[in-house]
Amino acid sequence: MSTALVTGAGQGIGRAIARRLTEDGYSVIVVDLDAETAKATAADVGGRAAACDISDPDAVHELAATVDELDVLVNNAGIFPAASLADVDIAQFRRVMDVNVVGPLLLTQQLLPQLTASGGSVVNIASMAAKVPTPGTGAYSPSKAAVVSLTKLCAVEFAQSGVRFNAVAPGGVATEGAAAATADPAREERFNALVPLGRRAAPEDIADVVSFFASKDARYVTGQVLYVDGGLSEATVRFLQAAQRG
Ligand SMILES: NC(=O)c1ccc[n+]([C@@H]2O[C@H](COP(=O)([O-])OP(=O)(O)OC[C@H]3O[C@@H](n4cnc5c(N)ncnc54)[C@H](O)[C@@H]3O)[C@@H](O)[C@H]2O)c1
Repeated sequence: MSTALVTGAGQGIGRAIARRLTEDGYSVIVVDLDAETAKATAADVGGRAAACDISDPDAVHELAATVDELDVLVNNAGIFPAASLADVDIAQFRRVMDVNVVGPLLLTQQLLPQLTASGGSVVNIASMAAKVPTPGTGAYSPSKAAVVSLTKLCAVEFAQSGVRFNAVAPGGVATEGAAAATADPAREERFNALVPLGRRAAPEDIADVVSFFASKDARYVTGQVLYVDGGLSEATVRFLQAAQRG
């Protein structure tokens, strides 16, 4: 049986990815900072739970030592605390870069032998914020631009290993982590009106594309970023229209 490891799979997009890859026939290792939610997802999908802070090199080393075989690594865990750049706490800025950028690199480094042995693939979860700067989110946009760059660099630098690297860049997704943005129905209606496909994504909309990148159908695809955002990042005309409406 093929094995997949998904970080941040205790809730949100990561949990949907764990479910979808389980449906695809993978045995899933459910990794999360939160041991309890990791266990709940693992119980849900019949996989194995592992509590790990993906930004901690020793913890990632310990985790990798427990993984004998691996076909797919999904670097999904990420944080997006609100902050304005003018006065963002530098410790918070560094923490976002640590979790969102250094974490995926650590997992890639530590699991590359297993992925090379299987001819596997890595899917990093970036964000529309990599392309469209998102004010009020501190290090988030820079961190996701770095995830895109890291994905492309890994694709080229590790090409000889036979491991493919791609990124999925969601727009707005209804998850526990994004609850603050979705709680107000009037705000949600305004947001949905800006999305060409007319609605915020469900976690499953993202998970299905991860499944494609992980699959043999994507065997000749590496170094790519797929924006799964309902067209939002291309809808600048709608932003102009909204601005003109005042
Ligand atoms: N929700 C959105 O609108 C949206 C949009 C674009 C991109 N994304 C990206 O998708 C990914 C998942 O987002 P989500 O909305 O499901 O988030 P979420 O907050 O609902 O879930 C994230 C999970 O990651 C875990 N996590 C956080 N820090 C960790 C760490 N250091 N080590 C291990 N696990 C850790 C959390 O415990 C949590 O279970 C993130 O990378 C996020 O940046 C989300």
